[in-house]
Amino acid sequence: MISKNMYVKALLFISFIAGSACSSTDKVQQQQVRLEPKQDLLAMADSNFQDAAAQYKVMMERLPQDQFPKTYHEERDKLETSGSDWWCSGFYPGTLLYLYEETKDEALYEGALRMMQVLEKEQFNTSTHDLGFMMYCSFGNLNRLRPKPAYEQILLNSAKSLSTRFDPKVGCIRSWNSSPNDFIVIIDNMMNLELLFWATRTTGDSSFYNIAVTHANTTMENHFRPDFSTYHVINYNPATGAVQEKKTAQGYADESAWARGQAWGFYGYTLMFRETKDSIYLDQAREIADFMLNHPNLPEDKIPYWDFNAPDIPDALRDASAAAIIASALLELSTYVETEEASSYFSAAETILQHLSADTYKAAPGTNGGFILKHGVGHHPAGTEIDVPLTYADYYFIEALQRYKNYKRK
Ligand code: GLY
Repeated sequence: MISKNMYVKALLFISFIAGSACSSTDKVQQQQVRLEPKQDLLAMADSNFQDAAAQYKVMMERLPQDQFPKTYHEERDKLETSGSDWWCSGFYPGTLLYLYEETKDEALYEGALRMMQVLEKEQFNTSTHDLGFMMYCSFGNLNRLRPKPAYEQILLNSAKSLSTRFDPKVGCIRSWNSSPNDFIVIIDNMMNLELLFWATRTTGDSSFYNIAVTHANTTMENHFRPDFSTYHVINYNPATGAVQEKKTAQGYADESAWARGQAWGFYGYTLMFRETKDSIYLDQAREIADFMLNHPNLPEDKIPYWDFNAPDIPDALRDASAAAIIASALLELSTYVETEEASSYFSAAETILQHLSADTYKAAPGTNGGFILKHGVGHHPAGTEIDVPLTYADYYFIEALQRYKNYKRK
């Protein structure tokens, strides 16, 4: 039988244990309140910048004149390239500019400028929705670093070209050109809105802002499932604006969660909050983050499989590009929320960056065609760019490392 004394002692012991547990939790929270980059990870970021700059010089040497890097085929030692009209053309000069910013190596800056002379003509391209990627990742960064009216004009013309694809009946910017009975919008398109916000900030013309907000609202209404995963493709009826199809192009299945699509949506709504300060976008970004971070198929290292519902998990390929985009957006989101939540986003970003910086994902010097990261998945269903380096994986990896290095709570 338990005596009263023993009972009291037991209670005291339990409260002592609970007290210790509380005080250690308090300590953790006190550490979290500071939410500062860690010294060893800052050193890791710095050595990544140096290594990446050396890699991009390898790539610079290998690139045919006026061609932009797409990917690299190790088995044939072949760099695959594109012209300036490919959706990825802004990432290479953009990465060179980030690396110039971090290393002050003028050769990187000059290399970026050379490519942007080739890219410049795309400011008048009205046949793509990817102008945000192409022009803001390149000229947006250039104008941020060394502002010039000529760069502003290029960005403004690009914003005007992008705006021609907006249809008020649908409430969206058209993504891919298609048959006249279809109006295709992909989640990736959220990333192009940053250029429009820049245009309104710079000119005072609110039409760009209004297009961006309308596009984001329509997308929020139609692209997302109740669990905040996103469809890749919505096909609207151009005559009525009604949704006529919800499907995938680059994911495993219409109802699956293609990893990069989740990443684009997440980054997109995080930037929507930055630009508008409207909490509906903050909530959307948090829900998307929580969908990904709490997903049972997200591996411990937080580098997602190319699709959260890939049928061959745990043997499915990972997508380093999705991981890099997610890490960059997690760091930004963590500056907008309260400490405890911020700390979970911040440490998830740290986990991703640490794993991308290790040998499994980061290329050895002089290898990988000069790309920084390995193991991206471009278009699995089409059988292209599978388990390869990708120019946007590098761009968002370097951006995330820079965000980490400059991290400040707002
Ligand atoms: N469609 C752009 C991407 O592959 O993410």
